[in-house]
Amino acid sequence: MSINFSEQANDEIITTTASLPEDNAEGSLRPKTISEYIGQEKAKENLSIFINAAKLRGESLDHVLLHGPPGLGKTTLAAVIANEMGVNMRITSGPAIEKPGDLVAMLTNLNEGDILFVDEIHRLNRAYEEILYPAMEDFAIDIILGKGPSANSIHLDLPRFTLIGATTRSGQLTAPLRDRFGVSLRLELYTPEELQRIVVRSAGILNVQIEPAGAYEIASRSRGTPRIANRMLRRVRDFAQVRADGVITQEVADKALSALEVDKLGLDALDRRMLSSIIEYYGGGPVGLETLAATINEEAVTLEDVYEPYLLQRGFLTRTPRGRCVTQKAYQHLGLEYLGQQQLDI
Ligand code: ADE
Repeated sequence: MSINFSEQANDEIITTTASLPEDNAEGSLRPKTISEYIGQEKAKENLSIFINAAKLRGESLDHVLLHGPPGLGKTTLAAVIANEMGVNMRITSGPAIEKPGDLVAMLTNLNEGDILFVDEIHRLNRAYEEILYPAMEDFAIDIILGKGPSANSIHLDLPRFTLIGATTRSGQLTAPLRDRFGVSLRLELYTPEELQRIVVRSAGILNVQIEPAGAYEIASRSRGTPRIANRMLRRVRDFAQVRADGVITQEVADKALSALEVDKLGLDALDRRMLSSIIEYYGGGPVGLETLAATINEEAVTLEDVYEPYLLQRGFLTRTPRGRCVTQKAYQHLGLEYLGQQQLDI
């Protein structure tokens, strides 16, 4: 029997960083202002300066590129920027723009100062990117009507708007597009202490009683990602109501998360499979990403964007020019004996 790991990863695993329908209830948990937004101190500090300066000059904000692993609050931060600037935000995404007209319609419907948020901007069709260049630089677009010698072009002025692009893969943006963002901010994985504050804040909004140690237990198992922390909080709340007296203590959080197969450090089944496959089949590495992806029947981009950042941050994995290697810490975490990095004879 063959097991499709990717289906498993997307359907059931609580630690997926992909946005799930249930996360929509997240709306109420989202911070609205920079002061409510926890973590990302460096990005916030820079943004505050740019926002205040733009407001003082009475100008729109420079175009902003937000990049970093999924689930870290890029959309939330864009909405915070819109709120702080006192403007409206229109939301779209690279893959949702199916024809040039979709992008032109979005641009021409903007009002002065508005924000256009383009999620997964690296997936925008390259041919349509060219519409964005003059739109971003000169606040104008040229629309070509008709074909061949009888083609006509119309020049349309646009309001001064701010494009906020979000991407998990800034390396995949073309240089001309990347260069047109005046501000580029990298979002980092959150520390357990920051996530603990987010969980306590969310519990307050959801009217759930939680002890600090309960919040820390959820925080330290949510792989640096608020989306996962908030999702876990909801599942642990169910567990607390049915199996305990409704209060999330450290013990309740531990039992609930262990039942969901999230281990003490937040690794799920696929993380562990990734590490143990490198050990079992490649002597601990190095192994190339594509080879590893084929071995565990997962997409290389998913491993790179979703799984690796946390494993690298926690020191379970290293990236070398020759491929990925697991660390001694990974052996220990999996309860395996470390015999030193083995050389494969090829
Ligand atoms: N909810 C999700 N992300 C958050 C953040 N960074 N700060 C506060 N609440 C959040």
